[in-house]
Amino acid sequence: MNNISLRALTKEDWRIYKTLRLQSLSDSPDSFGATLASEQALNDDEWSARLDYSVRGMHGVLFIALLNNNPIGLACSVTHSRTSQDGHIYQMWISPKARGLGIGHQLLTHIINWAKGEKLKHLFLAVTTINVAALKLYQALGFRADGDLVELRAGSKLQTQPMILDLYETQDKS
Ligand SMILES: CC(C)(COP(=O)(O)OP(=O)(O)OC[C@H]1O[C@@H](n2cnc3c(N)ncnc32)[C@H](O)[C@@H]1OP(=O)(O)O)[C@@H](O)C(=O)NCCC(=O)NCCS
Repeated sequence: MNNISLRALTKEDWRIYKTLRLQSLSDSPDSFGATLASEQALNDDEWSARLDYSVRGMHGVLFIALLNNNPIGLACSVTHSRTSQDGHIYQMWISPKARGLGIGHQLLTHIINWAKGEKLKHLFLAVTTINVAALKLYQALGFRADGDLVELRAGSKLQTQPMILDLYETQDKS
């Protein structure tokens, strides 16, 4: 039986993060604005700092998914300032060997619940328009298109669709 678990990483876990992130960029280069080459250039301190949101004036968390105790996926949610109530989801990836098991759905649900717990009002993300699997996942969890298409990265022919999830409707507004 498959045992699926999720956990938040701290900066001490940077090696796990680095391994997953480089795997994701190697596997799915058209899903992310960053490139494998740009991330391979990071040094150890920079990998560790990536997980230390507060030193960068942000508020956030990076969760990994584990299948039978093996790290097989990741996603993070951050606000761009400590006081912002707008969260942004980045770096979502599940290893090909673990896809179709509901882990992406579980990971995204966990992030949404984290954001609600932090009293965020919205979650934003951007998904490449040709990425049917991710689009369906985001739509299934209530995200809707929000604004014009944006190129994936400078010079890319690929376009991303910005999406938004409103969280405040389900929260106590008092
Ligand atoms: C998108 C991704 C995270 C989905 O992860 P996953 O664990 O395979 O997804 P799940 O098994 O939880 O599926 C959840 C829902 O997503 C959608 N979905 C997932 N894979 C799909 C596919 N191949 N085709 C169509 N819909 C798909 C479905 O709505 C599915 O719900 P259902 O099974 O009830 O139909 C994964 O395919 C991935 O990592 N892709 C490469 C990286 C990427 O594109 N990241 C997103 C960047 S914005």
